[in-house]
Amino acid sequence: MTESPIGVFDSGIGGLSVLQSLQEAMPAEHFVYWADSGHAPYGEKSDLFVRQRSLAIAQHLIKKHHIKALVVACNTATAAAIHELRVQHPHLILIGVEPALKPALQLSKTRHIGVIGTRGTLGSDKFHRLLANLQDQADFTVQPCNGLALAIEQSTHLALGGQATQRITELLQGYTREMGEFGQAPGQMDTLVLGCTHYVFAENVLRQLLGPQIQLVSTGEPVARQTRRLLEAAALLRSGPGPRSLAGRISLLTNGDLTSLQAAAQRWLGLTHDACQRADTQV
Ligand code: DGL
Repeated sequence: MTESPIGVFDSGIGGLSVLQSLQEAMPAEHFVYWADSGHAPYGEKSDLFVRQRSLAIAQHLIKKHHIKALVVACNTATAAAIHELRVQHPHLILIGVEPALKPALQLSKTRHIGVIGTRGTLGSDKFHRLLANLQDQADFTVQPCNGLALAIEQSTHLALGGQATQRITELLQGYTREMGEFGQAPGQMDTLVLGCTHYVFAENVLRQLLGPQIQLVSTGEPVARQTRRLLEAAALLRSGPGPRSLAGRISLLTNGDLTSLQAAAQRWLGLTHDACQRADTQV
């Protein structure tokens, strides 16, 4: 079982930002990544749809790839499906992601924190409970960013890339303006939580718009640490980091556009094109 891969999935390429951190934290592990790009974006679809997709992908990764753990590298899918995934797979090591409000509280000096995410995540009961528990410790300005995950998804597409990159800037300009003032002065937001794994890939645009002082908080590293802890506790960690021969294999599957995934995997993980394959479209 230690030789089995860790399964990771997202609605598309966003979870590659989590995979980056997982691979850094556990270079000896094998990973199988499912980009559900044929059904992206999740954030503006119903909970039921996202839950059904998450359950089908989990089932497939367990049956066909014999995964030893599953990382739901998607805030929207975690909010909609983590409970049901735990019920259906009580013995599987399961890790979800949620907007990093608690880490942001440690960083913010002005105690005014911005949160961006998909409509699905920010409208979920799970997020409302998280927010309610922390609301007495800071002000939170919460902004759903419709269209942003899709634009990021399309930015790696050969034909749509240029237009999508422009769209990312336009959308973020509009949404951050709507949120209010960012800065270090009292009352201003000095910290922004990226509550969608896709948004990590728009960090450069956000830095340009908000300036270098604003702290951008994402979840990749804490999720990777937690995954490592759970595998270690279950004695399922593949030994390493060690000699080169022990380096893990990464295999990426997509039911969307293969060349887009290849471009994203090369750009953000330095992977060669043969790491990516077409996924079984029956899933
Ligand atoms: N990357 C996902 C998230 O973290 C989903 C984005 C989407 O498909 O709308 O929420």
